[in-house]
Amino acid sequence: MRTLLITALLVAGCGSAELEKSDTDATSSATPQPYTPTGDAATPPEVPATDAMAPSTPPSGPPPAPADAAVPPGPADGPTLPCEVSAVLATYCGACHGTTPNFGAPMPLVTLADLQAPAPGQPGVAMYDRVLARMQDEQRMMPPPPNPPVDAADLEIVRAWVEGGASAGEACEGGGDVPDAGMKPELPPPNPECDYVFELRAHGNGRPGDDTPYMVPPLKDLYVNFSFQVPWMGDVHALEFHPIVDDARVLHHYLLYTFPVGGALADGTILPGIGMHPAESLVAGWAPGGSPTMMPADVGLEMPRGPTGRLTLEVHYHNETGEVVPDRSGVRVCATSRKRTNTAAVSLLGTEIIPILGPGEWQATGICTPIFNILTQEPIHILTSGPHLHRRGRHITTKIHRRDGSEEILLDVPFDFDNQIMYDTPAIINPGDWLSTTCTYESTGPAFFGVRTEDEMCQNYLTTWPAGRMDTGGSIILEAHACML
Ligand code: HEC
Repeated sequence: MRTLLITALLVAGCGSAELEKSDTDATSSATPQPYTPTGDAATPPEVPATDAMAPSTPPSGPPPAPADAAVPPGPADGPTLPCEVSAVLATYCGACHGTTPNFGAPMPLVTLADLQAPAPGQPGVAMYDRVLARMQDEQRMMPPPPNPPVDAADLEIVRAWVEGGASAGEACEGGGDVPDAGMKPELPPPNPECDYVFELRAHGNGRPGDDTPYMVPPLKDLYVNFSFQVPWMGDVHALEFHPIVDDARVLHHYLLYTFPVGGALADGTILPGIGMHPAESLVAGWAPGGSPTMMPADVGLEMPRGPTGRLTLEVHYHNETGEVVPDRSGVRVCATSRKRTNTAAVSLLGTEIIPILGPGEWQATGICTPIFNILTQEPIHILTSGPHLHRRGRHITTKIHRRDGSEEILLDVPFDFDNQIMYDTPAIINPGDWLSTTCTYESTGPAFFGVRTEDEMCQNYLTTWPAGRMDTGGSIILEAHACML
């Protein structure tokens, strides 16, 4: 399993531009930013001490030409961020808030000027105050999950700097620049175990097999659904889901859904959405900083049966560039008809009884009692959790209640509708155990369960094996794989 840790990438990318162009497409408009390599991490460029010690030199003319690799990007040009603050920002924020912002981030957080600018949409507030606030914002944490939060020592560095007046300091040697698109994962060569390598990508014309780019308008929080007919025959197992990141500036995250009960859209259909998926099941998802989804050895994930089955890719775009951006991001599904020994499937936990009776904070709880094979007493393995609430959703917790009365937390996370992700939540459920899922909402008025924007949901899509053990029913809207009783 490949883990994409930002720190690892940033360390690896330190000094070498991470601007990789997508292999296949000529459509990406991502023009490589002029980026001045600052040399190998092992051999830092020589910076004459006199230059580095001359903070009063006014910025004169354009920054050093990118071709001139001997000159690092002006550490001595004007006041700079203190090195230790730069380092924290580069480590935790640089992959999105780089010189060219990526993954929907609205602005760079690279220079002192960036930090002293007004926060976007909040003219009276300085960026450095928002930076400190968002690093500690439980509900809308920066960096966003699945990236680990800023640790206490690093937070303290930024706090001390902000409280001390957020002023200039001594720049890092080499300028403290950050690599762009540091979270743009590489597509590995296909696993030879897969006889179907199926790429579901954003596209521009609502026709089967279309390979024109989707033209992403300059909007925040745009959800677009792309439906595809599966290319396989009969039943297959999906083994891997790899993110395909085309234009990193506008891709925010994606989720992949199946239609368990009919109602499928025609192959090629493009449907702008609002992020809601009645009667669909969440199977995989990715957000910057996350890993590809990989099934454990001996386990394959149930897929809709071919050739009639459909999969829907929901791409969440956040285009802050101010221009229309062509994009072909998506997911590569690796599937095989030579099925593995064990079959995993997605089951829905939560509840459809949601009593939000007025303004304030409300909770809804549902329980799931799985079925065990009486003869084998074989345990159930949980792999991932995919929470889905609507706009009032603030938090979700799923607990395992053991037969002996003890409790374990499977998932306990804040929920942000605009940053929905799947979590690795490995656990084993034994006979006699049951699960509860509690959703917390913050509301300005009454709301109940439903599939419309103004309604609410409380769902946790669990990937488990063996398949079927959690299909006990209880869904009012007849979700085929629900465990709500
Ligand atoms: C995975 C990409 C990503 C990373 C990493 C990331 N951000 Fe962001 N950031 C975003 C996106 C997308 C937005 C716009 C949506 C939002 O505000 O949540 C944003 C918005 C912001 C805003 C402006 C909105 C406001 O509240 O005023 C601030 C400030 C911010 N981020 C700070 C940070 C800091 C500090 C870090 C590192 C500690 C960081 N971000 C890391 C993607 C990222």
